[in-house]
Amino acid sequence: MNSRLPAILVTGGAGYVGSHTLVELLAAGYDVVCVDNFSNSSPEALRRVERIAGRAVRRVDGDIRDRSLLDLAFAAAPIEAVIHFAALKAVGESVLRPLDYYDNNVGGTICLLHACRRAGVKRFVFSSSATVYGIPQKLPLTEDMPLAPLNPYGATKLVNELLLRDLCASDPAMSVASLRYFNPIGAHPSGLIGEDPRDIPNNLFPFITQVAIGKRERLSVFGSDWPTRDGTGVRDYIHVVDLALGHVTALRYCARSTGFVPINLGTGRGTSVLELVKAFEEATARPVPYQIVGRRSGDIAECYADAGLALRLLQWRATRDVKEMCADGWRWQQGNPSGYS
Ligand code: NAD
Ligand code: UFG
Repeated sequence: MNSRLPAILVTGGAGYVGSHTLVELLAAGYDVVCVDNFSNSSPEALRRVERIAGRAVRRVDGDIRDRSLLDLAFAAAPIEAVIHFAALKAVGESVLRPLDYYDNNVGGTICLLHACRRAGVKRFVFSSSATVYGIPQKLPLTEDMPLAPLNPYGATKLVNELLLRDLCASDPAMSVASLRYFNPIGAHPSGLIGEDPRDIPNNLFPFITQVAIGKRERLSVFGSDWPTRDGTGVRDYIHVVDLALGHVTALRYCARSTGFVPINLGTGRGTSVLELVKAFEEATARPVPYQIVGRRSGDIAECYADAGLALRLLQWRATRDVKEMCADGWRWQQGNPSGYS
């Protein structure tokens, strides 16, 4: 790899969304430098990315809160922009360990932004979340709606957004796209990379695939008495490859604009828990036994994006439907029953 080509520094690139984004960046012709401490991922993901892309990923292994490590990463190639995925993301754990979450997710971003300043990097794409909206006051969610996260994890995303907005206000050359993801699921169609939860999955889709492969007996559906069309929770599931492509378009947007902009990345369509189970069964011909149990604390009934701003600013829209998400996620689970290990 030519070390003098401009490159994108990607934090958390070995993770679920990061690994899929690395593939799309490499396919689009970017060079990449990945900084990851593997606290929730495996280096094997990066080897798989290289296999899919047929190109090398430059690695600087370690924590983004380590100043000298970051300086090493920024010196590995001329960095033109940063995509910042690295964060802890388990909602329940964030309630139990708020200090760790603020330290990693907010402290980490502050260290990274200092390093950007030292290196003169002005373009920044941030992994935010639909969780910043809290309980939706109106659907679909538009970016100007009130922000009121319901847990420490969501609060760290909001604090980061406020910090990035203030930074842009102080430096007219800064350009930040804060991408508010809805619910990424599925996997790369190669089946080589995908989501690899360490313990019992907190999220619906990896739980479904683990039931389908026989690792878990049945899915617990958290509540059938929500004010939704079938009583189960509704979310805006987005194929992780569509989400990854959204980052490539956001990078291009940052190159032609300045200032802070939050942008929803979703499909604009809601799918209930039972609809997702049915779509999965149809796409894979595997049964997914389930039982209805009580609501999960902190859940909301329904959440889906107004994806209009992404179309207007980025010329991006999600094109893969729920069946494709299920088929691709299942290919990954079948080919890698124990994830990367
Ligand atoms: P992930 O856990 O798979 O990936 C995060 C990566 O960051 C991991 O590889 C982890 O090892 C790394 N990391 C964490 N802290 C680090 C640190 N201090 N230094 C270096 N590396 C560190 O998570 P993901 O699902 O790929 O999510 C990526 C980003 O998107 C996160 O910021 C997450 O909060 C956000 N997000 C995810 C979802 C989702 O449902 N997956 C939804 C909304 C937002
Ligand atoms: N659900 C079940 N059973 C399960 C898991 C989930 O019925 O075993 C239900 C939930 O109650 C909810 C829906 O499936 O109705 C989706 O739940 P997820 O946990 O998959 O997703 P959430 O929307 O609750 O949360 C996710 C991430 C958050 C992120 C949010 C918005 O976990 O970190 O999406 O991006 F903030």
